Amino acid sequence: MKEKVNQIKEVAKENISKIKDLQELQELKVKLLGKKSELTSLLKGLGGLSAEERPKIGSLVNEVRSEIEENLAKAEKKLKEKALAEKLEKEKIDITLPSVKTKRGSKHPINRVIEEIQDLFVSMGYDVIEGPELETDEFCFERLNLPAGHPARDMQDSFYITEEYLLRTQTSSVQARTMLANEEKSPIRMICTGKTYRREDDATHSHQFNQVEGLVIDKKELNVSLADLKGTLEVFVKKMIGANSELRFRPSYFPFTEPSYEVDVTCFKCGGKGCPLCKKTGWIEVLGAGMVHPNVLKMNGYDPEKYSGFAFGTGIDRLAMFKYGITDMRYLYTNDVRFLSQFDRKDEE
Ligand code: DAH
Repeated sequence: MKEKVNQIKEVAKENISKIKDLQELQELKVKLLGKKSELTSLLKGLGGLSAEERPKIGSLVNEVRSEIEENLAKAEKKLKEKALAEKLEKEKIDITLPSVKTKRGSKHPINRVIEEIQDLFVSMGYDVIEGPELETDEFCFERLNLPAGHPARDMQDSFYITEEYLLRTQTSSVQARTMLANEEKSPIRMICTGKTYRREDDATHSHQFNQVEGLVIDKKELNVSLADLKGTLEVFVKKMIGANSELRFRPSYFPFTEPSYEVDVTCFKCGGKGCPLCKKTGWIEVLGAGMVHPNVLKMNGYDPEKYSGFAFGTGIDRLAMFKYGITDMRYLYTNDVRFLSQFDRKDEE
C-alpha cells in the first residue's frame, strides 16, 4: 500500500513537471485529486485496512495529497507568470514612436473678446445676463423709451418676423428685461453680450453682429454719476484696446439715456496723429453711453426719484478688429481656417 502511494507521488511529480499550459494543468489536477483519482479511491478503501495500518496510510495519503497540491500550485504560478510575460512582450508599445498629431481648433476671435469682456466685468462685480435674440417690439423699443412711430426707430433697420416679433437690433433690450425681472427692485450691475441683427448690407456692416450692453442702477443717495460711467468705460477701453488709449465723450442722442454720449478713443493705429483709419481725426468712435433716462427707469418699475444709473453699449466685432488689427470685417464671418488658425497659439498665452 505504501509503495502504491509513493508511486502515485512520483508519477504525479513527473507529470506536473511536464505540464505545458493551464489547460493541461487543470486536467491533471482533476486526474490526480478529483473524485475519480487514485488517491481518492485509496482514501475510500482505508476502511478495509487493519486498525493499525489505517492511520499510517491515511496520513501518508494526506501528505502526498498536500504535496501534489503544492506542486500544482507552484506549477500554476509559473505558468501564469510565463503567460503574463508573453502577453506583455506581445503587447509592448513603442512609446518612442512619434504620434499622429490631432488637429486642434481654436477659439474664434469674437468669442475670445466676449470672454475677456465678461471676465473683466465679473471682476468688477457685474452679473452676466442673457436675453433672447428673437425679441419683442416691447423690449427692443417700447420699454427703452422708443414708442411706435418714434423717429429714432429709423436709426436701426430691423428684421421684423411678425408685427410683434423682430430679431433684436440691440442688446439694450436686456436692460429692460433685467429691470423688469428684478422684483425687489434692488440695485443692478449687469452686462449682456450677444448677437444683434440689422438690415444693413454695405461693405463695412454685417446684418448680424455682436454687442455688449452694460447697466448699473443704484439708490439715488449713492449717486451713480457720469464720473462713474467715465471711470468704468476707461477701464473697459484701456483693457480691450490698449493702456495708452484716451477717451473723449461727445454729447449725442439715444432715446434710453439722458444725457447721452458717444465715446471716442484715440486712434490705436496712429496714436492720435491722424491717419486713414481715423479719417485724419485722431479719434475712433467706439461706444454709446449715458445716464439711464427717467422714463426707462419708470417704465421698468424703478422709481426715478429713488434710483439712478448709467448704461453703455458697443459693438464687439469692431472691438475684435481693433484689438487684433483685423482689416476686413468679413474675415470674422467667412471662417477661413487660414485666418482662424492664427488664433491657435493665443489660447496658450
Ligand atoms: N443700443 C445702442 C446701439 O445699438 C448703443 C447704446 C447707446 C447702448 C447708449 C446704451 C446706451 O446702453 O446708453 O447703437
